[in-house]
Amino acid sequence: MWPSLASTVTPLVPPPRPIPGSYGLPLVGPLKDRLDYFWLQGPETFFRSRMASHRSTVFRTNMPPTFPFFINVDPRVVAVLDTSSFAALFDPSLVDKRNVLIGHYMPSLAFTGDTRVVVYLDTSEPTHAKVKSFCLDLLRRSSRVWVREFLSNFRAMLDGIESDLLSGKSSSGFLVALQKCIFAFLSKSIVGADPAADPRVGEFGHILLDKWLALQLLPTIKVGAIPQPLEELLLHSFAFPFALVSGDYRKLYDFVEKQGQEVVRMAQDEYGLKKEEAIHNILFVLGFNAFGGFSVFFPSLITTIGRDKSGLRSKLKEEVRRVMKSRGDGSEMGFEAVKEMELVRSTVYEVLRLNPPVPLQYGRARRDFVLRSHDTAFQVSKGELLCGYQPLAMRDPEVFENPETFVGTRFMGNSGKELLKYLYWSNGPETGKPTADNKQCAAKDYVVETACLMVAELFNRYDEFECDDNAMSITKLEKKGIL
Ligand code: HEM
Repeated sequence: MWPSLASTVTPLVPPPRPIPGSYGLPLVGPLKDRLDYFWLQGPETFFRSRMASHRSTVFRTNMPPTFPFFINVDPRVVAVLDTSSFAALFDPSLVDKRNVLIGHYMPSLAFTGDTRVVVYLDTSEPTHAKVKSFCLDLLRRSSRVWVREFLSNFRAMLDGIESDLLSGKSSSGFLVALQKCIFAFLSKSIVGADPAADPRVGEFGHILLDKWLALQLLPTIKVGAIPQPLEELLLHSFAFPFALVSGDYRKLYDFVEKQGQEVVRMAQDEYGLKKEEAIHNILFVLGFNAFGGFSVFFPSLITTIGRDKSGLRSKLKEEVRRVMKSRGDGSEMGFEAVKEMELVRSTVYEVLRLNPPVPLQYGRARRDFVLRSHDTAFQVSKGELLCGYQPLAMRDPEVFENPETFVGTRFMGNSGKELLKYLYWSNGPETGKPTADNKQCAAKDYVVETACLMVAELFNRYDEFECDDNAMSITKLEKKGIL
């Protein structure tokens, strides 16, 4: 017997169901969630355990920072933890990104000279398009010196590590040297200025930025460096005042104003920005987006490769050497060369998948809408804050096979490239393009190319390198052809 028509037609769109989870009692619920997030569970278990108990990748929860002194913030969010629901955060017609860079909490505007810099602007605000276009142009122009400056600073850093190891040390910590390298290369590329030209910034520019970043971000980050309950009481209970770093910020501001006159003038003449607005934006892009982003991403890239026990390093070396050889004697390392290195690129993508440098993304519902996870639809109301936790969305088993495992070749070949539309580290799919009309990272392609360049340079220069399993340090560097 033929089945009836009604039984064969399955509705394409399931009716929305209520979002599971609750915010608990006033004060008690937010406090419990805060303690779970920072202390009792940590961010990953916090999201994982709620996902399991609600049997849903979309649920309600509170996000810190919360009470006692954050009395003006509303910690209620809708968590989105699968690739489908997470994608709502990239749709400017669905979410408003005004002031939600790090969630419901926003550091005092004093940290950015009383200017709402581009990352805090929503696409519906006319200034967003103006400043984002300026940033995209700034990057295009900087590309002339970007590769040269990155390589020369990275090589200087490696020279230092080599001499540490040659002098008999069993390991060489690389974090400080790497941050110096990042700050110097970005200043030259983005601001057009050498930090050494300004003695007030000079050697210690990276430390000035670290302090400025830390005071803005500490209330939202599990640090783990001091015992509980001290961390809760001292780091997560109040907003830090800008006064603690106002002198440092002034030095950086003066550096951009004096040494970066050309780019500041470009922002004024070609994009209609006021001088102060231009300098605060350049400083934020340099210090928060670029320096902050690379300072998180590069250490995880270096240690993931340097600690690998699966033979990845010898395959990377083989590819880098083969490509460089095929390009002919004396060929230069650069963006053109790394375009041909498929395993290097796939490895970079895989590190970005498993350790997305910016783990949380937020957006406020612009209107009532239906949010879709892979198999369920949920009704979201206007004004609700969506909170995407990337480390779990990037391990979505519906999309990624063996999602918890590092697979260096994952993004290779046609099927691997198909997965790029689900790689979200840049606040948008890897197949997307940052424009003035969206909120995707302006430097999406520069970040990936520079990371490929770093890996390629390492294997072009060394036969082997290894990292300590527990520390940010290099324990072995064998120069090409020496042993
Ligand atoms: C590893 C390094 C980097 C990472 C991980 C990173 C990541 C991100 C993310 C996740 C966002 C979106 C934030 C949000 O709205 O939720 C973003 C935005 C942005 N990034 Fe990056 N970024 C990096 C490097 C850079 C660099 C080098 C630049 C420029 C020189 C840059 C410029 C920007 C700008 C201007 C925005 C704001 C986009 C907008 O408001 O439309 N980023 N970045």
